[in-house]
Amino acid sequence: MDGLTTQHNLFQPTFGNRPDLFIGRDGEVEQFMAGLNEPIGSRNRCMFFLGQRGMGKTALLLELSDRAAKAGYVVARVTAHEGMPTSIIEQIQLNGYEYFNDEKRHLTGVNAGVLGFSFGLTFSDVTEKQFGFRAKMSLLCDRLAEKGKGVLILIDEVRTSAAMREVAASYQELVGDRKNIAIGMARLPHAVSELLNDSVLTFLNRAVKVKIGTISPF
Ligand SMILES: Nc1ncnc2c1ncn2[C@@H]1O[C@H](COP(=O)(O)OP(=O)(O)OP(=O)(O)O)[C@@H](O)[C@H]1O
Ligand SMILES: [Mg+2]
Repeated sequence: MDGLTTQHNLFQPTFGNRPDLFIGRDGEVEQFMAGLNEPIGSRNRCMFFLGQRGMGKTALLLELSDRAAKAGYVVARVTAHEGMPTSIIEQIQLNGYEYFNDEKRHLTGVNAGVLGFSFGLTFSDVTEKQFGFRAKMSLLCDRLAEKGKGVLILIDEVRTSAAMREVAASYQELVGDRKNIAIGMARLPHAVSELLNDSVLTFLNRAVKVKIGTISPF
């Protein structure tokens, strides 16, 4: 399939299937990738894509995920839901696994593994049971930094929720702790039924907002 034949399904709402060929969006992709190159804590490392239904937000996040992985990031890509914090942790562990598969598996025990971990990116039993999202992310960021990797969280269909509040608050704390972490989010421009003054909205307002319009014909 070439670029032209993918046009028939452009702008059709779907379940976010990856296009056969990703076209256009050079500006958005470059802007996001340039943000990743900025110093930890830079506002451009927290980007929020807004676009109408079927405009290509999900496709863009998929593309950014691939590009960031090639640029040295371990990526967690999720659609917002209540279990999102756990999904993010699991995806980081899964996608970062390849950087540790040369390491020997240690038996879990009091002194086994690196602080908080049993082996690789697998947490020790104590960490797994007693630590929350923010502490686990902090450990993962440090462990991946040892391998020269950063962490990128991509959240599709962002909304205000307890899970999003936890991720937003943790992100800000992790950045405050100088962890190499970045975030990209996407949503419809006017998602309704949200309380004003929610802490998530404050967080989203601080993010760099990028409008996703139609792809100009080539
Ligand atoms: N840059 C692109 N290149 C090729 N195909 C694309 C591109 N962007 C979107 N598409 C295709 O257009 C369709 C709609 O895109 P997508 O699902 O990403 O939109 P969306 O903005 O996430 O929509 P929704 O608001 O319903 O979630 C999909 O079939 C997708 O594969
Ligand atoms: Mg989508």
